[in-house]
Amino acid sequence: MLRKITTLVATAALSATLIAGSALASGPIVIKFSHVVAENTPKGQMANKFKALVEEKLAGKVKVEVFPNSQLFGDNKVLEAMLLGDVQMGAPALSKFSRYTKKLQIFDLPFLFKDMAAVGKFQQSDKGHELLKSLEKKGLVGLGYLHNGLKQLSSSQPLRVPADAKGLKFRIMSSDVLAAQFEAVHATPLKKPFSEVFTLLQTRAIDGQENTWSNIYSKKFFEVQPYITESNHGLLDYMVVTSKEFWMGLDKNIQSEIKKALDEAIAFGNKIAAQKSLDDRQKIIDSKRSKIIELSAAERSQWVEAMKPVWQQFEKEIGKDMIDAAYKSNM
Ligand code: LMR
Repeated sequence: MLRKITTLVATAALSATLIAGSALASGPIVIKFSHVVAENTPKGQMANKFKALVEEKLAGKVKVEVFPNSQLFGDNKVLEAMLLGDVQMGAPALSKFSRYTKKLQIFDLPFLFKDMAAVGKFQQSDKGHELLKSLEKKGLVGLGYLHNGLKQLSSSQPLRVPADAKGLKFRIMSSDVLAAQFEAVHATPLKKPFSEVFTLLQTRAIDGQENTWSNIYSKKFFEVQPYITESNHGLLDYMVVTSKEFWMGLDKNIQSEIKKALDEAIAFGNKIAAQKSLDDRQKIIDSKRSKIIELSAAERSQWVEAMKPVWQQFEKEIGKDMIDAAYKSNM
């Protein structure tokens, strides 16, 4: 009897060792976080902060590998790669989801938000939360919004009024709303990945582009664009996303710790975004490579007038109630 018990105890101990051994052998969960911008941007900093927080809170259990500058996947591939399990997290610009949902096009409507406070208010409203869920049917989970800021227009020629943009070629992100926005001022929009913009500008294959101060600065667009119009005409924000398969497959405690780390990293990214815009704008001025054009109220209202019909064009796809709610966040 005693021998039987000893054997049973020994067998149990052996299987416990084997289970622990196999868990150890499979190693920590790896989250590959892929993005396209430089590390010294709000998104770059947020991703690095997320890595640090996860590795502090979940040491040995979860590891985060951050791939900036389109090193792993560029604009057009990251969401596909996520659905295939080749990458677990990313934060594409809200303009880059149109293959998965038309609802997020709302964020591209020109002159919709008067400032970043209005953007934040809308994103945190019920409608904003509803939009975070708009990718679920496609197998993607929206984990949170991240700010970059408002976009400016850079160009090889001074742009003061919409007529100045006529006939010029502008690089845009892959969004039909952005295409319509440039068509509204009789310019030619070209959908191109972020990684190609500098070369397209440098070689004069295109005349201009729209982006935030931190992207214009960190990717050196200002060195090859002699004019930047401070138009604040549109928004460049992000959604941090993961795949449903990856997210639902996580142990609940680990999932909740990862989410906490992400919320903290997003809050950090959002906090530095506004200051980064101001600092990078100033660095561009100091470089004297590019002239910043400030618009008078009358000039600005010409751009608003010219681009505003785009709202109507996309009202059906986005939903009037959604547009009204976003507009009200300005009040
Ligand atoms: C762009 O393509 O211009 C931006 O989406 C890049 C980014 O992620 O900020």
